[in-house]
Amino acid sequence: MTIEQLYTKCLAEATYYIESNGEAAIIDPLRETQPYLDRASQDGATIKYVFLTHFHADFVSGHVDLAKQTGATIVFGPNANPNFDFYSGIDNEEFSIGDAKLRLLHTPGHTMESSCYLLVDEKDQEKALFTGDTLFIGDVGRPDLAVKSDLTTEDLAGHLFDSLRNKIMVLSDDITIYPAHGAGSACGKNMSKETFDTLGNQKKTNYALDPNLTKDDFISEVTSGLALPPKYFPKNVAMNKGVNAQIDDVLSKGTTALDPTAFAALAKEEDVLVLDTRTPAEYVAGSVPGCWFIGINGGFAPWVGALIENIDQKIIFIASEGREAEVVTRLARVGYDNSLGYLEGGMEAWKEAGFDVDITDSISAKAFEREINSDSVHTPLDVRKDGEFETQHIEGILHFPLSKVHENYKELNSNVTYHIHCAGGYRSLIYASILKMYGIKNVVNIEGGFGAIKKTNIKLTQPVTCSTQS
Ligand SMILES: [Fe+2]
Repeated sequence: MTIEQLYTKCLAEATYYIESNGEAAIIDPLRETQPYLDRASQDGATIKYVFLTHFHADFVSGHVDLAKQTGATIVFGPNANPNFDFYSGIDNEEFSIGDAKLRLLHTPGHTMESSCYLLVDEKDQEKALFTGDTLFIGDVGRPDLAVKSDLTTEDLAGHLFDSLRNKIMVLSDDITIYPAHGAGSACGKNMSKETFDTLGNQKKTNYALDPNLTKDDFISEVTSGLALPPKYFPKNVAMNKGVNAQIDDVLSKGTTALDPTAFAALAKEEDVLVLDTRTPAEYVAGSVPGCWFIGINGGFAPWVGALIENIDQKIIFIASEGREAEVVTRLARVGYDNSLGYLEGGMEAWKEAGFDVDITDSISAKAFEREINSDSVHTPLDVRKDGEFETQHIEGILHFPLSKVHENYKELNSNVTYHIHCAGGYRSLIYASILKMYGIKNVVNIEGGFGAIKKTNIKLTQPVTCSTQS
């Protein structure tokens, strides 16, 4: 029997591959299907089932494509009602995979259809629990994403409390917990860096499994300090309930090579967004005027989802050579299926064709310190999250979180020069690029962000411990 965790850092998401005696199951697949087809064929296995723990909000799953390509059955737990062929499992139902089996445990709470899958091995031993967003390592799934008129966040939290106690905590301490997400995911508040753990250890360390916790205390704990969910979440839930464009079609359209003239013509269209997905250093050195920077080497998909408001947005992009298909795939993972192509030959070809290049001013933290100490006029902006800002910041600095850039830019002035920093120099460039798109052109990025600023003598507030994110 094989259990494999396929972890995707950008989305902090874990998909699982299980194989026994020539049969395989995939739990919570991402949008693309090829990696799972390849993995199964490596074992000479047939994918028999595609299990979903719930309708994901933070990515679009490729379960429909995968089922079509393999003949596998899609399984959801009770209360799921999607618009495609699937099997509606019931509590305690077992599904055989070779000589092993997966037992469905209905665990409503994060959402009402949420279910976990308990792996029972060839020797009839309960080995592992795939918990989806019901139980994370160090945390539980937020209960505010599936609120309906007749179901409040508190109601869902109450269900979650019961599910954890009646379905999960009664299992053996030896079983391994395999969640759908790890640290950095917006599906929970405070997940650990580990991506799996034993149930016994979680009972000792995860606040949500504390046997002394009352239901009321649990409800107030899991419903407090929740940041607003990213704007794309409801759109991805809707896509996960329906049939979407096939990933192969999205990929072939999105990887169209556009020469500089064709790229420039599309860039001029009002409904086309130009995205620079290269490294921060490449972006600041010169990019297409008016483009947004969202680098592929970072929290790419979540920032696309949080900042590009129209999920059907037409996108053309600049990519590091050889990473074009990756960009299209990672856009499609959060439902942005309308990539029209990339700049063939990159910025070199763009310059050779004689088109304008936009350079972003970027200075070191040391140079920023010198500017502060001199009399030059400067307005620094901190674009980190609320929690990061509250922990420590430059004294007197303005706080304009990146997640709210489309609203907060209106308070900025195109005659002022803004020195922008985040934690490490990634989000500040996204912010700077969007400001420029809005016509606020005098922006200076601070390289290395707050990490580098802390190594200077720039005056900072006293650090405070902050437990919640935003
Ligand atoms: Fe979720």
